[in-house]
Amino acid sequence: MTSIINWNELRKAMISEGRRRRGRENPADHWDKRAEEFNRSTKERNERTDWQVASMRLDPDYTVLDVGAGTGRLSVPMAKIVKHVTSIDQSGGMLSYLEVNMAEGGLSNYQCIQKRWEDVELGVDIELHDVVIASHSLGMFDLQEAVAKMNAAAKRRVYIFTSAGKWFFDDLEEELWERVYDRPPRRGGGFRSDYMLLYNILHDMGIYANVEIRDAEHVQRYGSLDEAVERWKTMREIPEENEPLLKDYLAKNLTEDGDGLIFRRRTKGAMIWWTKSESS
Ligand SMILES: C[S@@+](CC[C@H](N)C(=O)[O-])C[C@H]1O[C@@H](n2cnc3c(N)ncnc32)[C@H](O)[C@@H]1O
Repeated sequence: MTSIINWNELRKAMISEGRRRRGRENPADHWDKRAEEFNRSTKERNERTDWQVASMRLDPDYTVLDVGAGTGRLSVPMAKIVKHVTSIDQSGGMLSYLEVNMAEGGLSNYQCIQKRWEDVELGVDIELHDVVIASHSLGMFDLQEAVAKMNAAAKRRVYIFTSAGKWFFDDLEEELWERVYDRPPRRGGGFRSDYMLLYNILHDMGIYANVEIRDAEHVQRYGSLDEAVERWKTMREIPEENEPLLKDYLAKNLTEDGDGLIFRRRTKGAMIWWTKSESS
């Protein structure tokens, strides 16, 4: 059957605006700048991490490939379970935190590869792995090509974690997007990482994936309003002149918690997974 909608091209159209805006900025530089703050903030997301790792039913003799592994939020707990983890990321800054986190866990059964997934060659840079995962790391322009490579790299199963609907800050931050972040309106709103796009791309590829949707809560803690402003500025690259608007927004949305302040967001995550035998 010929598809009426070309989902891969639709997604490309949705993300191309952001790409044009960022111009020639290397995506790896973007993540290098955010690495410290990302590492700090993800250490508070334990419940979600525990669920993700438990859901993958990993075996002690498995090898796992983590695409867009970041600071190792999943690579580190997975390395505690499986035989070997290969962590690929384009950002050296993110991977250097991954190495620190592995060392803190006393783990050495892993390998880091600093490369864009698009540039990774199967059989040259990496061998096949039992399980391939990608968690909130679908920064590839051609998603169909990227997931086809993940499928080809897996011996047993592939797991992709993304959002159902808008992701964490999209809901609350939609109003900030133009006013504070100084960015043009986004095509497709905050739905560019929605699992439906990926699900349909997979379906068109003949991969009939399983989907599990789960509530996720994201709690960020700050010592003070000034600390929250600084950390948001780093994560979201907010122009200096918009700091008063940001401060105003955070003052309205942070709630007191013990000695500090918290920012609480509820969202839904999606786990899309398939076994090699179910795929064509
Ligand atoms: C939001 S972080 C997620 C990190 C980790 N997977 C997690 O769930 O905590 C996204 C990471 O994906 C990486 N990434 C995005 N697109 C990539 C690509 N095309 N090739 C390699 N890494 C990529 C980024 O560099 C960043 O470190």
